[in-house]
Amino acid sequence: MLLPVDPPNWMADTRVLGAALRAGGYRPRAVAQAIGIIAWNGKQMDGRWWERANCAEGVFGDQVELLLRGGRLSPARARAALPSAAWSADLLDERPDGIALRGTIVPLEFDLVWTDTPVRAFTGNDGLFLPDSTTLAVRRCLPSEPVARHLDVGSGGGAVAARAARSAVETVALDINPRAGLGCHRTAALSGLPNIRPFTGACAEARGLGTFDRVSFVLPLLVPWSGLAAAPVHTVAADGGLLREVLELLPALLAPGGLAVLYTQAWAGDRHPGGGVRATLEAAFGSRPWRAAYWWDYEGPSPVGPLRAGILAVRADSSRGYVEAPLDAVDVGVDDWWPGLARLLGEG
Ligand SMILES: C[S@@+](CC[C@H](N)C(=O)[O-])C[C@H]1O[C@@H](n2cnc3c(N)ncnc32)[C@H](O)[C@@H]1O
Repeated sequence: MLLPVDPPNWMADTRVLGAALRAGGYRPRAVAQAIGIIAWNGKQMDGRWWERANCAEGVFGDQVELLLRGGRLSPARARAALPSAAWSADLLDERPDGIALRGTIVPLEFDLVWTDTPVRAFTGNDGLFLPDSTTLAVRRCLPSEPVARHLDVGSGGGAVAARAARSAVETVALDINPRAGLGCHRTAALSGLPNIRPFTGACAEARGLGTFDRVSFVLPLLVPWSGLAAAPVHTVAADGGLLREVLELLPALLAPGGLAVLYTQAWAGDRHPGGGVRATLEAAFGSRPWRAAYWWDYEGPSPVGPLRAGILAVRADSSRGYVEAPLDAVDVGVDDWWPGLARLLGEG
């Protein structure tokens, strides 16, 4: 059942915390450099970055320790690192060995994204996804031209929804995980965004939310989050049928001229003989014109057979066509990949 998630009344303190962190320099480049990464983008967001040494010192170093690396601080240092509003924002745990944050705050461009601690993210079946290079790819591919309504499916803590909300009047964030809605509210508050509306529900229920100018979905991958050879497998078990389900929903979700941007494995064809991505779109859209571009950035073996993964963009009511191309956008220092994707869609 589709359930709206209301914001808790203590969210105002989270907004104060977010504003203080952003004004005080808790921003992507500085945070990346604190853990020895030149820029916080591309594949550098994959892997166990929270275990990297923290080279930053003083108050900023303490913020990185507490908010990003999952470390603990003495009460005195925590008080110096965070504004007093943080103590009434229901985000901190006071433990005998120090103060700890109940999650992780990842700075991405202008946004401060709330998600679980890495331990929590990979425990049980309701962990919130840690934003990674797949998240970033979708964020980078969203056009900045303003629209009325955006739907982010599989929102997790709102890493894509936050970017979407900067160019949409209203962004609806939908996730099957009942913990995601609160994460989205926290991300919205930390990022100073008033226009994200989280819902708990399955992708198939998105029809009940109306139509959208843009739809995004970073699909769960079928391979372990931390690499093809390594455990643990991500907590939300992926199902190849999900891509098919999403593609079949697009004609109902996309308003006239609407755009969907997904990160996905090209999977529908493998699990459903005769039903590859292109064929699935053709069957779903029927006589309504559409154009799609599969801009893949991974090709290789996997435990489940040969695999490509990347951005799949679908424009409704466009000139018909389907193109596939390796993703050749610059990986570091460029946050806008839309011009490259637009060219593939015949719009550049
Ligand atoms: C790879 S994570 C992406 C999270 C977030 N968008 C990000 O990039 O950080 C995929 C998300 O899809 C959600 N999900 C999986 N199956 C779903 C379904 N059938 N309907 C809605 N959400 C689903 C999971 O709970 C998870 O939050």
